[in-house]
Amino acid sequence: MSALMLQERAAEKVNTRGREFIPLAETVLNGNEKRYVLDCLDTGWISGSGKYVDDFEREFATFCGVEHAVSVSSGTAGLHVALLALGVAPGDEVIVPDLTYVASANAVTYCGARPVFADVDPTTWTLDPLDVARKISPATKAIMPVHLYGHPADIDPLLELASAHNLSVIEDAAEAHGAEYKGRRVGGLGDVGVFSFFGNKIIATGEGGMITTDDKSLADQVRLLKGQGMDTARRYWFPIVGYNYRMTNIQAAIGLAQLERINWFIEKKREVAALYDEAMRSLPILTSHEAAWAKSVYWLYSVCLTEEYDRDRIMTRLLEQGIETRPFFHPMHHLPPYYQRDGDSTLPVTTNLAARGINLPSSALLTREDITYVTSALRACLC
Ligand SMILES: Cc1ncc(COP(=O)(O)O)c(C=O)c1O
Repeated sequence: MSALMLQERAAEKVNTRGREFIPLAETVLNGNEKRYVLDCLDTGWISGSGKYVDDFEREFATFCGVEHAVSVSSGTAGLHVALLALGVAPGDEVIVPDLTYVASANAVTYCGARPVFADVDPTTWTLDPLDVARKISPATKAIMPVHLYGHPADIDPLLELASAHNLSVIEDAAEAHGAEYKGRRVGGLGDVGVFSFFGNKIIATGEGGMITTDDKSLADQVRLLKGQGMDTARRYWFPIVGYNYRMTNIQAAIGLAQLERINWFIEKKREVAALYDEAMRSLPILTSHEAAWAKSVYWLYSVCLTEEYDRDRIMTRLLEQGIETRPFFHPMHHLPPYYQRDGDSTLPVTTNLAARGINLPSSALLTREDITYVTSALRACLC
């Protein structure tokens, strides 16, 4: 039976027989979400403006400790307009980690620019500043650290490189709402930050994203770009070609209710990680690591197996026991649009992690028993 069929079967079980399937992630909507959405429906404010859009943007900016937050229809759309606002254009290069979700690289491509892949650090799994330094060329315009799986990238050395070479820094914070670097929240560390609110993220709006920055002119520019390019002071006057990347008031209503509970979500994620850490201690595997300067939000708690194990077989065995997992992202240099023949030797850390990494169930609703069940099943596969 294929892994997909097994997954469908396992998902059926959860519908009919309760919690027999342990999913990778869950959307938890048990705060004010329904009340705020009903308010949108009752008042007719269902499109790309309204009180929830304003409130969500204001409160998210406060949460990240930045001056401006601009909502968008997805994290990908946010990355696209943020890069455009930074002036990324055809002929430019943007340094992106080889280990990331494809949207980081695609957003660069949408601008007509070229993503240049740098390797990641073997412990934090985020951009390695030494490799970034090697990849800087006269065409480099920006660096895009990705706070992968909830762990912040090591920003200070990247900011130093950016300042020395006159580059912008755009944080891809899609997976790391509330993560901290030396006590400061992500989204306010570089020139601009971008978050995703896809259903499996720390907080969710269905689809949706947010751009964060302290730079007013950059915030104005992304507002212009995401709103069809319409001049805010002159209705139906379009000085540029813009996009319809607006978040709806309904999405923002869900987002605001989720944001009210974000500290609870983060605490639960960290509790789940602490339980995994404890249970994994004696296993011969590398687990999600938290650097001394970091507060991770553990979007997806992850493990990396050693060479002797067949990662994909182990994932199938876990699925047979109702445990959903996910392989690490493919290296960007393996994907057809970005294929590099010599990538495995020039990007060795990503190549190795991507072949061996597994994201484990990381829902905020997991219980101690769930985690014991998952770790016992994993232990049995390794022994
Ligand atoms: C690292 C990273 N960047 C960007 C995105 C894109 O966000 P969205 O799915 O909201 O477009 C994601 C989403 O999964 C992501 O994980």
